[in-house]
Amino acid sequence: MTKKESLKSPKKLIIFIGSPRKQSNSAQLAREAGRGARAAGAQVELVNLAQLNIRPCQACDRCRNLGPGSCFQRDDMQKLYPLLLQPAPFILSHPVYWFSINSQTKLFIDRWYALGTDEYACFKNKKVGIILTYAEADVFSSGGVNALHAYQDMFNYLGAEIKGLVYASAPDTGSVKANRQALKEAFELGKSLVS
Ligand SMILES: Cc1cc2nc3c(=O)[nH]c(=O)nc-3n(C[C@H](O)[C@H](O)[C@H](O)COP(=O)(O)O)c2cc1C
Repeated sequence: MTKKESLKSPKKLIIFIGSPRKQSNSAQLAREAGRGARAAGAQVELVNLAQLNIRPCQACDRCRNLGPGSCFQRDDMQKLYPLLLQPAPFILSHPVYWFSINSQTKLFIDRWYALGTDEYACFKNKKVGIILTYAEADVFSSGGVNALHAYQDMFNYLGAEIKGLVYASAPDTGSVKANRQALKEAFELGKSLVS
């Protein structure tokens, strides 16, 4: 990036948190990623999906006759489409529910359908990070691996690049705070996404 370009567009990282919990493990790792990005001189925007009104995609295809990010449903996705249309990298950080992506996050992802009117141009070459927490001992027994497979297929289809994955077993509320390795990995992920 040239000096002129960096003045025009400051570095930014957007982090979407999918947990509804107050002492959330995945939110703790998300904040750590935010710290890493800030340490690299970036602005960070944290979005808590569980606090927003995001309705399911109605598969009506009305968006197909409109511009990218135009959905007939008037809910909080109207605030989130502009974020996704920005060139900034983003992180999806959420717990594993029922061996896969949790519903708060999946509702959000389904609504990306309204970004497909220009072949999902906003995702092309975009850098993405994934953070998962789960209660079981590892990424296989927890089903975290199913979420990761879905993300591999999804971002391959969208033309985005998964720059890093952080996943950790955190069976109790807030227990990820004791996992120094995961906290460090999350910090480094945030940093690398804006570097
Ligand atoms: C509805 C529900 C489903 C869950 N399903 C799984 C699961 O399939 N595998 C797993 O290892 N943990 C599962 N968990 C445990 C959470 O993934 C785990 O506690 C995680 O660390 C919570 O993250 P959070 O504090 O960010 O919400 C489930 C929890 C809930 C509430």
